[in-house]
Amino acid sequence: MRLDRFLANKSIGTRKTCKQIINKMRVKVNGVVTTKNDMNITSSDIIEVDDKVIENDPYLTILLNKPSGYICSTKDEGYISVMKLIPKMYHKTLRIVGRLDVDTSGLLLLTDNGILNARLNLPKYHIPKKYLVRVNHLLKEELVEIFKVGNIDIGRGEKVTTALLKIIDPYNCEITIFEGKYHEIKRLFGKYHYDVISLKRIEYDFLQLDVEEGKYRKLTKEEYNRLLEDVKLNSGEYQ
Ligand code: URA
Repeated sequence: MRLDRFLANKSIGTRKTCKQIINKMRVKVNGVVTTKNDMNITSSDIIEVDDKVIENDPYLTILLNKPSGYICSTKDEGYISVMKLIPKMYHKTLRIVGRLDVDTSGLLLLTDNGILNARLNLPKYHIPKKYLVRVNHLLKEELVEIFKVGNIDIGRGEKVTTALLKIIDPYNCEITIFEGKYHEIKRLFGKYHYDVISLKRIEYDFLQLDVEEGKYRKLTKEEYNRLLEDVKLNSGEYQ
């Protein structure tokens, strides 16, 4: 990440004022004054402004337990934004990873790593996402095989490659999907004439929903690095 952008992300100023601060020789990288706005900063660099160290927290990734009724948007758009559930100081840097529908609850990630965010959403990395689903009528056992075989046309020229279904009881099941298309689960069940009554994401890759509803926690460095590995990014690389 460029130095001026790093400082702006840390709310030192706007991009323009950060450039001015750098030009005025107020910034040190690893103990050395620099005037290079575009200097590449990685997680191992020590950044100081006016001799004060700026927290270089490269793994700011948050796991939030989204309640139903909150919208995955940075602004309130008819519903309250999920951003209202996390402190203001993170709003400038964190971006929501993918989307959960307003009426879907559960595990939502937010990260300041743009490349990680983009890659987590790419179907080619096959990141598993597990949901608890309640449907409106009896679940048929044959769906397990149909979903596993996959290649299911869910309309608008889109297909679900494969999905793992575990029936818990006649109306409740767990499903793991690997892509993350718009309304994927609702459209998949809809194809077989089911309405999804409730939907909750309980796992994202190796991460479990381990915070209370409406609460969040930061990922540990180990968890963050594991996510990077799963989308083939080097540790310390961030955008
Ligand atoms: N599939 C859906 O239909 N909705 C979600 O929120 C997530 C997956």
